[in-house]
Amino acid sequence: MAKTRVEALYICNNCGAKSYKWVGQCGTCGTWNSLGLAGPGVGDNRQSSINQPPQKLSDVPTSGNQRYQTGLTELDRVLGGGIVPGSVVLLGGEPGIGKSTLALQALGMLSASYETLYISAEESLEQLALRYQRLGLGHQELHALCDGHLENILGELDNKDYRVLVVDSVQTLSARTLDSGPGSVGQVRECAERLVSEAKKRGIAFILIGHVTKEGALAGPKTLEHLVDTVLYFEGDATSRYRLVRAWKNRFGSVNEVGVFAMTTSGLMPVKNPSAIFLSGAKILSPGTAVFASQDGSRPMLIEVQALVDQSSLGNPRRLSVGYEGHRLNMLLAILHRHAGVNLLDQDVFVNIAGGLRVVETAADLAVAAALISSFSNSPIDRKTAFFGEMGLSGEVRPVPRGEERAAESVKLGFNHLIAPSANKLRPQSRAEGLTVSALQTVAELYTLISES
Ligand code: TYD
Ligand code: MG
Repeated sequence: MAKTRVEALYICNNCGAKSYKWVGQCGTCGTWNSLGLAGPGVGDNRQSSINQPPQKLSDVPTSGNQRYQTGLTELDRVLGGGIVPGSVVLLGGEPGIGKSTLALQALGMLSASYETLYISAEESLEQLALRYQRLGLGHQELHALCDGHLENILGELDNKDYRVLVVDSVQTLSARTLDSGPGSVGQVRECAERLVSEAKKRGIAFILIGHVTKEGALAGPKTLEHLVDTVLYFEGDATSRYRLVRAWKNRFGSVNEVGVFAMTTSGLMPVKNPSAIFLSGAKILSPGTAVFASQDGSRPMLIEVQALVDQSSLGNPRRLSVGYEGHRLNMLLAILHRHAGVNLLDQDVFVNIAGGLRVVETAADLAVAAALISSFSNSPIDRKTAFFGEMGLSGEVRPVPRGEERAAESVKLGFNHLIAPSANKLRPQSRAEGLTVSALQTVAELYTLISES
């Protein structure tokens, strides 16, 4: 006789894995005694889905291109033009970087036109009110609620026709259906899942704040990336004045779009023209510095790359990279050795991107290689020279997108020499604007250009 299925569901308190029978050790993450019985409401969406016939997409009513604009120009940019109704945005970053500040400012601005609610389980109402006044938003209509229980929050949604909500933070939320504490992966995922489904059902936009630990582990927020529509992460270090907000995922805009803010005494202020703020402006010409003409999303920006190559006293020389991927640095060193004869095997190598920035574009390769060669051969690079281009394993300099925009930005900031891939075929007009272009095909050419300058 077939067994009747027991409709009990167990959820791992550590990783959130679901199981229909109790076991001592979670089969997914291997934690012992972590399975707890899930209460009503969890997992039963297997049976409760209403059977709807497929619909013609062109007949489905949409809200058109409606977006809630926060008025913080840089935030609206990374979002792709504002917050889309019914979307869920995850705003992640290290503690103290400015997540709550940005969310409070954005919501404060929106509260003038829409029904909004700031839900915090991290700060008291008084703390929130103090910050609100400090941000100069005292005259706005924003309502706040200090609660970390998911059920209470969902209940509150029935009371008003809310349009935009901030939840600060997902790690402090808990659902009664799980018996693990707030912050566990199971809770974070369960709460986010239910908020996302609520957002879609009611057309409410949510901004979920998520903490990323100092070590860079995105444990909690990382597991939510596939659930939400947009993922924004704060970059830059909390001690510097400037903060970058980067779109890692965006269903309603382009990824890698960057918003730049300055932290001031009255909150985060958008930096409209950030191109030059990451250049040191040093007057002394020193070896090991190269300027990278970057293009993050739709914004060109000039960024300073620093390298230090120094005789090593260790058998296994150090390779340290801040702001530029370590594996890529190792690859560059191998390319330089094999295809340009630059032997750094007995040298310590350090690379740093100025201003606490992180470059994600492969187009930074050429600038990093140039800085390395410059430091190694003790030949400073002229301050009015900028670089972009990707490096291939066979020593070739590969083209990258948006060469013209990078060239135009370099000219705008007073650069007169651009070292770029020849395959980018920069149009003659960029040269006409007082810009000399050295079009490279191989890394060996780069070596000659820098070491003999
Ligand atoms: P906060 O938004 O609380 O960070 P998070 O929510 O990401 O943990 O920002 C905290 C930092 O910002 C704190 O160090 C103080 C600073 N700050 C200012 O410099 N000016 C301001 O107007 C505000 C509100 C905060
Ligand atoms: Mg906070």
